[in-house]
Amino acid sequence: MSDGFTLEKFARHPFYQEVNRRLVAITGLHRGQCVVDLGAGTGAVTRLLAEQVACPEAEVIAVEPSESALEAARRNLENMQDAVVRFVQGSADKLSQFVKKPVDAIFFCNAIHLVPEKELVLKEIQRTLRIDGTFSFNTSFYDGAEPPEAEQFYRKWMVKALRALKSRYGIMPDRTRVEARHRLTEAEYIQLLEENGFRIQKKEVMTVQMPLGGFEDISRYNLWIEGVLPGVPLEAGRDSLIVGAREAFKELGLKTSPRNWLLVVAGRA
Ligand SMILES: C[S@@+](CC[C@H](N)C(=O)[O-])C[C@H]1O[C@@H](n2cnc3c(N)ncnc32)[C@H](O)[C@@H]1O
Repeated sequence: MSDGFTLEKFARHPFYQEVNRRLVAITGLHRGQCVVDLGAGTGAVTRLLAEQVACPEAEVIAVEPSESALEAARRNLENMQDAVVRFVQGSADKLSQFVKKPVDAIFFCNAIHLVPEKELVLKEIQRTLRIDGTFSFNTSFYDGAEPPEAEQFYRKWMVKALRALKSRYGIMPDRTRVEARHRLTEAEYIQLLEENGFRIQKKEVMTVQMPLGGFEDISRYNLWIEGVLPGVPLEAGRDSLIVGAREAFKELGLKTSPRNWLLVVAGRA
């Protein structure tokens, strides 16, 4: 995967940092703790966690399956000094194989929706978490992420992106590969956690106002392009989604469009 298709640019937006900071804040970490950052990507949340636990005894273990994202995370965090950050290439469903001692907290930010086998991952998290440890996740890809007042924008964005894809590249997404990924509702996430041995400690929905630049930059991310335009080459998908977002913003006269993030902190039941 080329560097041009990572989440790095999107992750620099203040609204994105705000939702991640809020999750870290409501979890309540302490100096010296040992924390896992599952699906660490290019390290935006890893940095926040390392800042919170900062001290020589602290450890943050960044777990990420993508080699190129992990490499970028290493680069982005090479100047972190106050906490030990360990990078592990691997998937959440094998967590207990590479984290052997119980940890104080596990974060899974902006990634749980990508995992088809969520129950398996929750079992691994149970295995790896201290008895009084916390599991925190956030997601903006759940059924309810698009507020009703933003529906018109999302519809227009996709219609315009598909039109640009057809007229500029003569292609359409492969509808037979349309995401098997089912987006859970807030209630389904809560039920899933409770059925897998967790007790909800905190739950919030945060609405952020995303500027056009946020939609342009999410359109540069490979997992987003592959999710909404399956089977489409990344360059063509990126360009069409950017054109679509610009046209939709312009037609609707928008400065921002709202999007919801679900934030959950749970302990072991
Ligand atoms: C949208 S990024 C989020 C990165 C970072 N956590 C953040 O909040 O900015 C999602 C990340 O989850 C990773 N991911 C996907 N499936 C995973 C799995 N089964 N286990 C762990 N990470 C996974 C992807 O490779 C990607 O880097």
